[in-house]
Amino acid sequence: MGSLPLYRLLTLLFLLSAASDVHGSNICTSQGVTACQQCLAVHPSCAWCSQEEFGKGGSSTSRCDLKENLLKGGCSQAALEFPTSSVTTQRDDPLSNKASGTGGDVTQIKPQKLHMVLRPGDAQRFTVSVRQVADYPVDLYYLMDLSFSMKDDLARLVTLGNDLAKAMGRTTSNLRMGFGAFVDKTASPFMVTYPPESVVNPCDTISEVCQAQFGFKHVLSLTETVARFTEEVEKQQVSRNRDAPEGGFDAVLQAVVCKERIGWRPDASHLLVFTTDAKTHIALDGRIAGIVQPNDGLCHLDSDNVYNKTTVLDYPSLGLINEKISDNNINLIFAVTKYVEPLYKEYSNLIAGTTVGTLSDDSGNVIQLIEQAYAKIRSEVELEQVDVPEELDLSFNATCLNGEVIKGLKSCSGLKIGDTVSFSVEAQLRGCPKEKSRTFSIKPRGFKDSLDITVEFACGCNCEASAVVDSPLCSDGNGTRECGVCQCHQGRLGPHCECSVEDYSPSDDANCIPKPGSPICNGRGDCLCGQCSCHASEFGQVWGKYCECDDFNCLRFKGALCSGHGKCSCGICQCDAGWKGENCNCSTRIDTCTSSIGLLCTGRGNCECGVCQCTQPGAYGETCEKCPTCPDSSAIGSAGMRLKSWMSWVRTPPTLQQLLNRLKLDSLSSHDFLPSVFHDTNAVNCSYKDVDDCVVHFQYYEDDSGKSILFVVKEPECPEGPDILVVLLAVAGAILLLGLAGLLIWKLLVTIHDRREFAKFEEERAKAKWDTANNPLYKQATSTFKNVATNSGWNVAAQKWILSHCPVTETC
Ligand SMILES: *[C@@H]1O[C@H](CO)[C@@H](O)[C@H](O)[C@H]1NC(C)=O
Ligand SMILES: *[C@@H]1O[C@H](CO)[C@@H](O)[C@H](O)[C@H]1NC(C)=O
Ligand SMILES: *[C@@H]1O[C@H](CO)[C@@H](O)[C@H](O)[C@H]1NC(C)=O
Ligand SMILES: *[C@@H]1O[C@H](CO)[C@@H](O)[C@H](O)[C@H]1NC(C)=O
Ligand SMILES: *[C@@H]1O[C@H](CO)[C@@H](O)[C@H](O)[C@H]1NC(C)=O
Repeated sequence: MGSLPLYRLLTLLFLLSAASDVHGSNICTSQGVTACQQCLAVHPSCAWCSQEEFGKGGSSTSRCDLKENLLKGGCSQAALEFPTSSVTTQRDDPLSNKASGTGGDVTQIKPQKLHMVLRPGDAQRFTVSVRQVADYPVDLYYLMDLSFSMKDDLARLVTLGNDLAKAMGRTTSNLRMGFGAFVDKTASPFMVTYPPESVVNPCDTISEVCQAQFGFKHVLSLTETVARFTEEVEKQQVSRNRDAPEGGFDAVLQAVVCKERIGWRPDASHLLVFTTDAKTHIALDGRIAGIVQPNDGLCHLDSDNVYNKTTVLDYPSLGLINEKISDNNINLIFAVTKYVEPLYKEYSNLIAGTTVGTLSDDSGNVIQLIEQAYAKIRSEVELEQVDVPEELDLSFNATCLNGEVIKGLKSCSGLKIGDTVSFSVEAQLRGCPKEKSRTFSIKPRGFKDSLDITVEFACGCNCEASAVVDSPLCSDGNGTRECGVCQCHQGRLGPHCECSVEDYSPSDDANCIPKPGSPICNGRGDCLCGQCSCHASEFGQVWGKYCECDDFNCLRFKGALCSGHGKCSCGICQCDAGWKGENCNCSTRIDTCTSSIGLLCTGRGNCECGVCQCTQPGAYGETCEKCPTCPDSSAIGSAGMRLKSWMSWVRTPPTLQQLLNRLKLDSLSSHDFLPSVFHDTNAVNCSYKDVDDCVVHFQYYEDDSGKSILFVVKEPECPEGPDILVVLLAVAGAILLLGLAGLLIWKLLVTIHDRREFAKFEEERAKAKWDTANNPLYKQATSTFKNVATNSGWNVAAQKWILSHCPVTETC
């Protein structure tokens, strides 16, 4: 029991060190990690010291810190846990140029084998080159729909065998051809079952002879002898089924997975040509015939090379076909008639690595079609990822033709045989998988070649291997001593597991209260043995003596934690390089503040967070370059004018003093003359802007006798004169204004004239003595004319007006 006070002391030390580390200066020390593995996961720059005596009296007290801090703190190199990410190439054979004459050992991808060590959060980059070699062997399997409508196609194919071989011979000297046929599942309602004779000869009812219906039949394994192809095709007969869609996908799957029977060579291009003029049945269609067992994706050819599970297994799904095609590097070519082409285009979008071509009604164009499809396949390279662990993110940049890097692309097209393309691949480890290492591969689609990459996840520490279970250092066997710290057993706590949860005493809680009145552990943890055990939070990590720290409560700017330019640690943003400020929203760049003449904010303001804050009254613009009212601009400007005119007649370069006298300036500050370029070792190239925004360049240097010399170097660079358009517009505007003024004057004259007339009229009216009881303008509709002679002058005039304006009727 005598050792207890020592433990207490150590506890205190630990807590103190933990508290002081909370606001530590780096990402490794600030997260409060207590185990080696945790430490490595914080950041790729963090290291762990597993030395037993580490941290006693040294300056560094956190075992998780930057490597150099640990070494400085007295950690020996041997006790340092600091795995670094790396990539090593294990196999790097050169790319082949040609397939023939190499004895079949063709390399189309480089490198072939990599070993990678990755720490969590770290990334490594490597480059993959791919080349489509010339004269690559080709396996071509012709899969033909033999339903009745394909009768003419079959007749045609018999004549095409030789031509097909010849055409393919232009791209490869090593061709093998094979043949298979399909109709549909031999079950009603896909099959003609009545009358019973139809089972043997389904064409009985239409008075023809054809072979009994079958699902898929493999006829000829891949062979170099073209004559055999023609021979076997000649022997074929069409069959007949009931419904329009055929069972071609059953055949595709068997042709893909029955590798040995078909005879696909491992190092050859595999072309599977699928010809049909009809739609196809897909997964779940089997239910109509009562076939409910899902396709198992295995080969089921019997001794007669017939698919004998056609009535047992359902049609394969597109997903299954996709997977098997990719696994076996098959290039599927849909050679289909125009009528069904749109449908197969849709399928092609769902099955990677397929092409679609339009087949003429009698398959006459199938050779061109295959040639084109093969050319297309050979002109494309697309990388495929196989078995990539979930925690690993792969990103690609492609360098296709003419060296241009295309971001985020993992394919190239439009290539010629022999072209080499390369891809830059970055692998980043996001988390730690359970296993220690894993192998995955990257391969070009349809190629046998692949790049195999073994990743070793550097998540664990070597020191874990020498952990001591029930170590005496952890309170006499109450914990495991691992990497220099105790990992306590269930129910024990403390750096040395000295505390048991059962020995609870309320006085312990006092240790967990940050200040009187606060909740225990700030309400974010439990007090165990006088220590806060912080709760997990869905937002991030919580740590600290009183659980006062976390990595999610920091200043935000525009919604982003630490403006997205830093890490949050215990309420404080730790800004990334290039950023500063409380919330890391302040850029430390100054290039954005530098004006075209090379001075920060043209000397009229301060650069704050990468933006000029103009202090000179009247200055504005991105670099405070605009300032019509600034005194310096006119002073420099007029001085410049004087300088220019004076310079034009002085012969010998004046001294600086002469110049100053001449310019009537007391001194020239660097503010007035801005150094921009240097002429020779001693000369300073200077320039300044005058009032007209012209930049005047001159040089200044001191000669051997110490005299300051200054002269104009070249013509001032002035902004361009007024725009011709502006001039035109101004002229047009002036003309318009003149016109308007003319109109206004005319209007004025007319108005004056009218006024005069009106005044005359008023005068006359005053003279007139009419009967005011009669409104001269109002006339009852039914009134009749009075005797004109008896009326006053006004009435005469009024009636004249009315007469001239009214239709001549009695009642007007
Ligand atoms: C299919 O053929 C294989 C190989 O010949 C045989 O083992 C199997 O029993 C056959 N299955 C059926 C359902 O006929
Ligand atoms: C791809 O290019 C972008 C931009 O040039 C670059 O940021 C990225 O790191 C590159 N990725 C790889 C895997 O090379
Ligand atoms: C744990 O520690 C206590 C005293 O601290 C000791 O009595 C006990 O034996 C230890 N338990 C084990 C399993 O060693
Ligand atoms: C940075 O954030 C502070 C506080 O939200 C804000 O006042 C300031 O204008 C921001 N600075 C920049 C350059 O966006
Ligand atoms: C100074 O300017 C002159 C042209 O005016 C140029 O030729 C020379 O290279 C410049 N000096 C330096 C050191 O850049």
